[in-house]
Amino acid sequence: DLYNLRWIGADTKVHGVIGSPIGHSKSPHLYNSAFKSVGFNGIYLPLLVDDVANYMSTYSSPDFVGYSCTIPHKEAGLKCCDEVDPIAKEIGSINCMIRRPTDGKILGYNFDYLGAIAAIEEALRASNGGPTLGSPLAGKLFVVIGAGGAGKALAYGGYEKGARVVVVNRTYSKAKELADKVGGHAITLAELKDFHPERAMILVNTTSVGMKPRIDDTPIPKESLRHYSLVFDAIYTPKLTRLLKEAQETGATIVYGTEMLINQAFFQFEKFTGLPAPKQLFQEVLARNT
Ligand code: ATR
Repeated sequence: DLYNLRWIGADTKVHGVIGSPIGHSKSPHLYNSAFKSVGFNGIYLPLLVDDVANYMSTYSSPDFVGYSCTIPHKEAGLKCCDEVDPIAKEIGSINCMIRRPTDGKILGYNFDYLGAIAAIEEALRASNGGPTLGSPLAGKLFVVIGAGGAGKALAYGGYEKGARVVVVNRTYSKAKELADKVGGHAITLAELKDFHPERAMILVNTTSVGMKPRIDDTPIPKESLRHYSLVFDAIYTPKLTRLLKEAQETGATIVYGTEMLINQAFFQFEKFTGLPAPKQLFQEVLARNT
């Protein structure tokens, strides 16, 4: 009884997730359950799409008011938008498209980075013992490993929240290019183990180092983790990466990659419906389906 079939009619707001493959996606289950639970007259479909530009120009009718955009279309999807959120434009990818009701224009957003930043802020607030005025990231040293799509997203997110960003990358030129854009500092991955300018830094891994099947890999030796008060890993297979396990053993607060996944879904839901996301239900549906 996932869909509220009695509701489906001319007023139903149609949404979908565009990707290839798409059969594995948990999103239809998640959003349809959530639409129903808050009484929103909407439906959310899995859409197997190989050419997103062709799909958007040929098949996307005004009935479709919102899309999630997933692998491999996050970059190509951006080019299909009439307007793109400034940070998504800088990052070069989107994961959500909304059709503006007033003029039908397609607006692109990237909620992946906001999802990660929100998870980090929440963990910082919890460890500080409660709410803070403004972002708890403001003024903090925010060390981002990786300068690809995810690295850019996190570096821009940290910059937007007023953190001082350090970009660490195997290839220095890419670290430098990104650091220059966010007013930050660049170092190579080889230099990271000796980098400890101050206490209570935040460390974020956006590389694939430590991802299944290479679960014994880690981007930083355990001894160097003592300089960090909070460590986030964008990897979520496995959930507890070697980096997070060693950070926990060293006494740091850890934030799982799965938190980023769930938070970006909250942001999309709120954009689709204009209503607050039923967070508890999201957690339950994901737990049941993973
Ligand atoms: P994504 O969009 O997921 O961020 P990407 O754009 O391919 O993926 O970027 C991958 C990032 O992981 C890069 O920062 C890459 O470093 P380089 O710029 O030097 O290539 C980093 N990376 C990937 N494999 C790595 C490895 N084995 N060791 C260190 N860094 C690695």
